[in-house]
Amino acid sequence: MTVHFIGAGPGAADLITLRGRDLIAGSPVCLYAGSLVPEALMSHCPPGARIVNTAPLSLDDIMAEISAAHAAGLDVARLHSGDLSIWSAMGEQLRRLRALGIPFDVTPGVPSFAAAAAVLQAELTLPGLAQSVVLTRTAGRASAMPEAESLENFARTGATLAIHLSVHMLAEVVARLLPFYGADCPVAVVFRASWPDQQVVRATLASLDPMIGVGERTALIVVGRALGAEGFDESRLYAGDYDRRYRPVGTDPRFPE
Ligand SMILES: C[S@@+](CC[C@H](N)C(=O)[O-])C[C@H]1O[C@@H](n2cnc3c(N)ncnc32)[C@H](O)[C@@H]1O
Repeated sequence: MTVHFIGAGPGAADLITLRGRDLIAGSPVCLYAGSLVPEALMSHCPPGARIVNTAPLSLDDIMAEISAAHAAGLDVARLHSGDLSIWSAMGEQLRRLRALGIPFDVTPGVPSFAAAAAVLQAELTLPGLAQSVVLTRTAGRASAMPEAESLENFARTGATLAIHLSVHMLAEVVARLLPFYGADCPVAVVFRASWPDQQVVRATLASLDPMIGVGERTALIVVGRALGAEGFDESRLYAGDYDRRYRPVGTDPRFPE
């Protein structure tokens, strides 16, 4: 018996990996984080599967479900939105499973920042403009931020920011970033990327309407000069005169064939 932690992707039911889909199909128990995991994924469950939305459950309740499946020798598919490496609450479940000696494995998923970048048709790391992407959030009711991980500290680097769990405080986010990125810096807010009701708002930090965040929580705020820029350098890797292992150039290549 194994608990399969599976990244369910950002929302579109076909943005799950083949491995994730097959693990769901082979698991007689499916526990899914209901608020952001699409119901359509449950169609992969085998007939008669026990399917439980864990949104209203506590960690103890979830562990009770897993322990019951373990006692019965039934595999569990445990679905969380996007990828499991960020804001999935997987860490605390794995700690309990380790303590109980219950086997598990982890299958990655498409994270929402990647889905948002795809919607924006944007490379977030453009040469000369930004070479880092910061996946971050602002403090929430249940989660304080470590002091050094402030928006201001990340903004100082000029990296592209993908700000999660924060659209309800858009005005504050913009006010804090403006001194670092400048009024004309592009910003995009992607609501429910890849869901049928996906919406995109593009603006600059100065022109963004802070009220667009009211009433909808599933959105990413993406900020940085890489968004929509045309004035960036081409990468050296593909330059015609760049000598490299897979494309030796010149009379004295570094990596002769
Ligand atoms: C609890 S976190 C889950 C993150 C997830 N594990 C991931 O890999 O993206 C939820 C936050 O992720 C972002 N998010 C998740 N799905 C999204 C989507 N389809 N479109 C835009 N933002 C999304 C929102 O900022 C939301 O508040």
